[in-house]
Amino acid sequence: MQVSEAVATRRSIRAFRDKPVDLTVLRRVLERAQMAPSGCNFQPWQATVLAGEPLRRLQEKMLAAQPQDPIEYDFSAPQQSPAHRDRLRTLGAAMYGSMNVARGDSEKRWDISQQNVVSFGAPALLVCYFERFMAAPQWADVGMWLQTIMLLLREEGLDSCPQEWMALYARLIKAEIGVPDESHILFCGLAIGHREAEAPVNNFERGRVPLDEAVRFVGFDQ
Ligand SMILES: Cc1cc2nc3c(=O)[nH]c(=O)nc-3n(C[C@H](O)[C@H](O)[C@H](O)COP(=O)(O)O)c2cc1C
Repeated sequence: MQVSEAVATRRSIRAFRDKPVDLTVLRRVLERAQMAPSGCNFQPWQATVLAGEPLRRLQEKMLAAQPQDPIEYDFSAPQQSPAHRDRLRTLGAAMYGSMNVARGDSEKRWDISQQNVVSFGAPALLVCYFERFMAAPQWADVGMWLQTIMLLLREEGLDSCPQEWMALYARLIKAEIGVPDESHILFCGLAIGHREAEAPVNNFERGRVPLDEAVRFVGFDQ
């Protein structure tokens, strides 16, 4: 598979098939992803990958719990900007629209969001965290590592969904997997599995701003 194909076929999968993920494959992906770049080669990322009974136990505990207050970190700050609020609305309209859930049906929307807790039926969950002293540059490094994983998963015929929703249950998750809350911040989960290819929620169109709104080119001849 070419990189461009991996990029084009990766999407956030929110309905997974009931099919386990092979540990050998996961180890190969994560071994390769260790070559992701990071400032000063700090390699700030850390993770625990769960499957089977330990994953089910964690999910049961999350289902029985309330989201924590305060949340681990704020992932909604860009909503103060109308342009970004609009992008979130567009995503919501496309995603909930694919499931025929009306805009005003906040109860149903919350129920669907709570599917995050069971990682949309994915058989494996990578929980991503790092030491609290890491600053913005290292958060970016971790993002690059995650994207490297997501693309390598495509090469293996696997799918994923990054999940900052897990920040709502960060303390519970860390307690369950034995990661100290004092020293480590939980960034996100990464649901891993095989996509339900026909599920409408895996097929709605995701927009992006036109390239020239995001990137300027300066000093070229053409
Ligand atoms: C760091 C990160 C956290 C995310 N957290 C969630 C999440 O908690 N739940 C979810 O359904 N999608 C989550 N997403 C998926 C985004 O909504 C998705 O990437 C975006 O809408 C673009 O769609 P695409 O990934 O299908 O291209 C997250 C994505 C990233 C990069």
